[in-house]
Amino acid sequence: MLTIALSKGRILDQSLPLLEKAGINIPKSELESRKLILDTNFDVIKVIVIRASDVPVFVQHGAADLGIAGKDVLIEHGADGVFELLDLGISKCRLMVASKTDKNLNKSTLKVATKYVKSTKEYFYKQGKQIEVIKLSGAMELAPIVGLSDCIVDLVDSGNTLKANNLVPLELIHEISSRLIVNSAAFNTKHSEINDWITKIKKSL
Ligand code: ATP
Ligand code: PRP
Repeated sequence: MLTIALSKGRILDQSLPLLEKAGINIPKSELESRKLILDTNFDVIKVIVIRASDVPVFVQHGAADLGIAGKDVLIEHGADGVFELLDLGISKCRLMVASKTDKNLNKSTLKVATKYVKSTKEYFYKQGKQIEVIKLSGAMELAPIVGLSDCIVDLVDSGNTLKANNLVPLELIHEISSRLIVNSAAFNTKHSEINDWITKIKKSL
């Protein structure tokens, strides 16, 4: 039995065609149901669809053998007990520092709003900058506008969300894309089975 953890939302939309090309189909009726463990065209392959940030947790603990998650989420999680197998090149974006155009970011302690606490701390500490992190779960763009922070660290793709809120991208922290990950123990115990799927997924990229 092989369990694959997929991220809800935009990663799911791009993962399904990729899995399909590799030969794994999830019937529409399964995807539209309220079931949490979905059947596929293989009796021995099940799929769970969960929040993006929970994917590395399920894979780390072996509750899923394989998973697809954004590099942003993998960096935050630390990915202990998880191997990154493939860069799938989907859900590409950039983790960036952004702020209002007229904002002075040369203060002694910068207030940074983000949900990416680990990446943010690492980035600013490397630069020797002192920061106060304000942890948010979403709508980071609001923080500089209402005076909650001096800047934000968030994902940027088209730049439309920043533009719509009169913010500008300033510094690149990481290039982001989704990765295929595996539980390290499962990688040993189910090696040939997992390797077969890696080869098929690689071919479908
Ligand atoms: P959660 O439910 O765990 O809070 P979320 O609301 O951030 O997750 P999504 O917005 O669907 O979920 O983002 C999931 C992943 O998609 C992110 O971890 C990132 O890798 C990628 N992603 C997020 N925003 C973008 C974007 N604008 N363009 C491309 N990829 C993105
Ligand atoms: C993500 C991210 C930005 C936006 C960037 O938000 O947090 O707000 O996409 O994309 P853009 O540069 O193309 O505008 P998302 O749409 O996932 O909403 P959420 O963070 O509230 O889940």
